[in-house]
Amino acid sequence: MIPISKPFIGEEEKQAVLEVLESGYLVQGPRTAKLEEKFTQICNAKLAIATSSGTTALHIALLAHGIGPGDEVITSPFTFLASVTSILFTGARPVFVDIDEETFNIDPNLIEAAVTPNTKAILPVHLYGQPCDMDAIMAIAQKHNLVVIEDACQAVGAEYHGQRVGSFGTGCFSLYATKNLMAGEGGMITTDDEAFAQKCRMLRNHGMQRRYYHDTLGYNFRMTDLHAAIGLVQADRLEDFNQKRRSNANFLNENLHSVITPVEKPGNRHVWHQYTIRVNAGKDRDEAVNQLNTAGVGTGIFYPVPAYHQQPLIERGFGDLHLPVTEKAVREVISLPVHPQLSQTDLETIVTEVNKL
Ligand SMILES: Cc1ncc(COP(=O)(O)O)c(C=O)c1O
Repeated sequence: MIPISKPFIGEEEKQAVLEVLESGYLVQGPRTAKLEEKFTQICNAKLAIATSSGTTALHIALLAHGIGPGDEVITSPFTFLASVTSILFTGARPVFVDIDEETFNIDPNLIEAAVTPNTKAILPVHLYGQPCDMDAIMAIAQKHNLVVIEDACQAVGAEYHGQRVGSFGTGCFSLYATKNLMAGEGGMITTDDEAFAQKCRMLRNHGMQRRYYHDTLGYNFRMTDLHAAIGLVQADRLEDFNQKRRSNANFLNENLHSVITPVEKPGNRHVWHQYTIRVNAGKDRDEAVNQLNTAGVGTGIFYPVPAYHQQPLIERGFGDLHLPVTEKAVREVISLPVHPQLSQTDLETIVTEVNKL
């Protein structure tokens, strides 16, 4: 089976972890600081704060912006649920806006109608590695005095009109094992605001600035140096890996004929965390997945259910919500392997099998 994702772990990663073990400095140590520094370069941001995951990055970014009970955060319903649970963890309420059919990202034309006096933030998700329409989003945010928290968990290294994602608003990244820049687990917040960064640092480490003096209710959301060491090696591979993903996606786009292929919006540098086609909904999709898997092509359905129809949201009264473009997407999408470890033979197998659908 050609897997839908395959983390690359080389000798350098293994050696880097051993060095941490031998150093005895296991948690939020020099490697974590170095990875934060590296992220400021990757995202062209002044500051970066490492966390234990993308979810905890989102969670404390929202908290550090003062978001909590009574507040509303506008986001996409077509995402990994952590984009939404992070809002729920703060006590704020997510407000779902439908997506753009072509990019799968939040539809900027629908955002403004969702703004209320309680809206505090917009949390766009750069899904699959494709940047959202940041000019439109930043303009709405500015007009209504809203914070922008970019869920860039799938999009490290992506660019919108030459500007790196994570540098428009507050950036949140995941370093989970299958991500474009992976550390096994991990997260990162990027910002230019020192006071905000300091709040994030406190929230990730038990509310402390000074050891054993707890100034606020904090968490243990620290990154370990074992993960940071892997992330540092992978950071050096990022450009290469993203280029490989881009060339794999181009090959698929040029050679797949029987399905709707994904687009890279003009002005975007898509980093292809996922390569997602569309087929007819329902039986056709089930059969396509079955046929591809039987032929040895791994697939993923990202995501099969709109966020608002997941149990925690149904329990919070979202069960009757229906957004048509999202509900079409959840029934039609199939992600195909696009990761940097695909060989030319793998790519040709994917093309042959998908074109048989
Ligand atoms: C869009 C999106 N948001 C948030 C997350 C959460 O990241 P993590 O798994 O590192 O907590 C992910 C990771 O899968 C994601 O894809």
